Amino acid sequence: MQESASTLASPMPAAAPGHGQGLVADTRRGTVALTYGTYDLFHVGHVRLFRRIKERFGFLIVAVSTDEFNAVKGKRSVVPFADRIEIVRACRHVDLAIAENEWAQKESDIREYGCTAFVMGDDWSGRFDHLRALCEVIYLPRTGGVSSSELKAHVVKTAA
Ligand code: CTP
Repeated sequence: MQESASTLASPMPAAAPGHGQGLVADTRRGTVALTYGTYDLFHVGHVRLFRRIKERFGFLIVAVSTDEFNAVKGKRSVVPFADRIEIVRACRHVDLAIAENEWAQKESDIREYGCTAFVMGDDWSGRFDHLRALCEVIYLPRTGGVSSSELKAHVVKTAA
């Protein structure tokens, strides 16, 4: 079921360990989830994705695309990488934020951090099924009615 951006009441999330703390303990518990994205103009769809992952897994690692990697993907963010990763790190559901520099790093990140799950929004459904050889791959429903590109378009339209 898709969550809507303006109507859903958010239940209280599980408490997240502090940055740099709890990695060993939670890794031992064996539930480490990894997700990737740009997170430009950080919005409620991003928060809800993180919350749902964190509710299900003990430890959430978020990989944030660098500006250079976004250029490779044909994307350009309004907010620069250093600020985007700082904002993601400040989200209470996020235990660790790392940089995403290239497509090929997913496999090595899963191995390096001992990830048990790779999670993305369902706009990516099927795109990362090859990672099932390494861990569980899950696509969660996106939050409806909000996206970075829609926010940008809205700002451009209303500022004109
Ligand atoms: N996401 C989500 N719900 C939304 C928007 C994004 O669950 N309403 C998820 C995406 O599925 C992805 C992650 O958040 O797993 C990062 O998405 P990102 O591309 O950074 O955000 P978008 O708002 O989709 O940005 P854009 O409009 O530029 O595609």
